[in-house]
Amino acid sequence: MRAIVAEKYGPPEVLEVQNVPKPTPGNGEVLVKVEAASVNPLDIQTRRGDYTEYIAAPFKMGVDVSGTVEAVGDGVDSLAVGDEVFYSTRVLSNEGGYAEYHVEQAQLIAKKPEGLSFVDAASLPIAASTAWVCLIERGRLKAGDRVLIHGASGGVGLFAVQIARLTGADVVATSRQEVQDLVRSLGAYKTVDYRDADAWEQLSAHSGGGYDVVIDLVGGDTIEKSLSLLATGGRVVSIVDQPKAQGLYDGWGFNAEIHLVFLTPSAERLARLGNLTARGLLKPLVEQTLPLEQAAEAHRLIEAGGRTGKIVLVTS
Ligand SMILES: NC(=O)c1ccc[n+]([C@@H]2O[C@H](COP(=O)([O-])OP(=O)(O)OC[C@H]3O[C@@H](n4cnc5c(N)ncnc54)[C@H](OP(=O)(O)O)[C@@H]3O)[C@@H](O)[C@H]2O)c1
Repeated sequence: MRAIVAEKYGPPEVLEVQNVPKPTPGNGEVLVKVEAASVNPLDIQTRRGDYTEYIAAPFKMGVDVSGTVEAVGDGVDSLAVGDEVFYSTRVLSNEGGYAEYHVEQAQLIAKKPEGLSFVDAASLPIAASTAWVCLIERGRLKAGDRVLIHGASGGVGLFAVQIARLTGADVVATSRQEVQDLVRSLGAYKTVDYRDADAWEQLSAHSGGGYDVVIDLVGGDTIEKSLSLLATGGRVVSIVDQPKAQGLYDGWGFNAEIHLVFLTPSAERLARLGNLTARGLLKPLVEQTLPLEQAAEAHRLIEAGGRTGKIVLVTS
């Protein structure tokens, strides 16, 4: 089968198309004929060598997959040959989904709703699941709350705005000016360009007495600066590495909670998100599809920045 393999860490050029043996499902696993695999920042970080302690070269990357079950291993009764599925692979593994076939644990795999395309389904797992965990599971967002989403124009952020709006919360979001119409159309009532010199003053002015939940999808000093914008009992939820020490003092007065999220994939959560999407309540934003062979080009496009929506690799 064709697969994208990196023999070493490095720039996009390390991604090679190789012919490799088709994998076989073991106990509790299924073999999926991959239709689509979306590209995430995690893939870029893996390729350039941010996770060398977990993944040794050579490796295949790709954590978001959709396709059709072609074979099932022993002990699998939740899935059958022919089922259309989508899932997040085990993260930080050597066997990613940029390939014609992929083997995964059945317990991580959700059935794809009819009416949801393979491309849209592949755009959901990591991005929509992370947004859900931040807002609902950690943020405990509810109707009438006020939520601030930093980084609303990215893969996670575009789902976060939509999920937050679905709960009935009032959404304030940061993004560059060029995509603010889109972010508002998805549910933000106020957008602020993070490049404005007075961006934080604007966010404070729209806090309406304090945000119940702040979602940090960008890092830097976002946690530290967001603490002073919270309502009493407010939550700051961050998904990004925090290489720099953050001052937390401003959170004391608000009895603030700070949550650091590293996504644990769940087929049940993903199935719920798939159903919301199939019902038209969530809208995947896929900017471009490319053939599997152009994985390196997909990485280059993402690294060049200034994009809105996912890039999805397709196998046929
Ligand atoms: N912990 C976890 O489990 C987990 C899960 C998923 C993702 N992540 C991480 O979370 C981050 C976001 O993921 P993603 O998939 O949404 O990435 P993405 O698609 O690359 O989006 C990042 C977005 O952030 C915007 N941005 C950059 N600086 C900003 C700032 N100062 N203020 C507001 N927006 C800013 C970018 O917009 P511009 O185009 O204007 O630069 C871009 O739209 C990545 O680092 C990813 O690795 C972590």
